[in-house]
Amino acid sequence: MTQKRPAVLFVCLGNICRSPSAEAVLRAKAAQRDLDIFIDSAGTLGHHTGAPPDSRSRAVGEARGYSFAGLKCRKVSQQDFIDFDYILAMDKDNLRNLLEMSPSEYHHKIALFLSYANIDETEIPDPYYGGLRGFEYVLDQIEAAANGLLRDITLHHSVV
Ligand code: 4NP
Repeated sequence: MTQKRPAVLFVCLGNICRSPSAEAVLRAKAAQRDLDIFIDSAGTLGHHTGAPPDSRSRAVGEARGYSFAGLKCRKVSQQDFIDFDYILAMDKDNLRNLLEMSPSEYHHKIALFLSYANIDETEIPDPYYGGLRGFEYVLDQIEAAANGLLRDITLHHSVV
């Protein structure tokens, strides 16, 4: 029997800072562990469609060894709710927007990304209008949640 590989979509507002960073981190961690997972990201806003990730996200992420090559901003689509198994919001606004725009039959797929991290925070704050420390903090949170997410995926899906 062939099984579809699990598919993860990270969602933030702009799809240029947090969600592409999460995409880059999870892709690297999955590759390190030789896990076959489809990974993508999108934004609820769509203002920056076609743009590469924010240069500050790239700078702090590349300094930790993550690749942002080929990533381009896109908006969340209705097809995403069908195609993805995990649709993970960076903050509660993203979560509310995703729940409002999707049919209820898909709501079980939608969660806060930090629900997979063993830390007290529930949201990854928008770093866009702040300094580089905010971008480092975003990556710290993403790395913590990515490890927990990979544990969940390997428990519930066939990935090798
Ligand atoms: P992100 O950050 O949601 O982490 O990609 C933002 C990027 C752009 C904007 C807001 C947040 N914006 O309003 O343009």
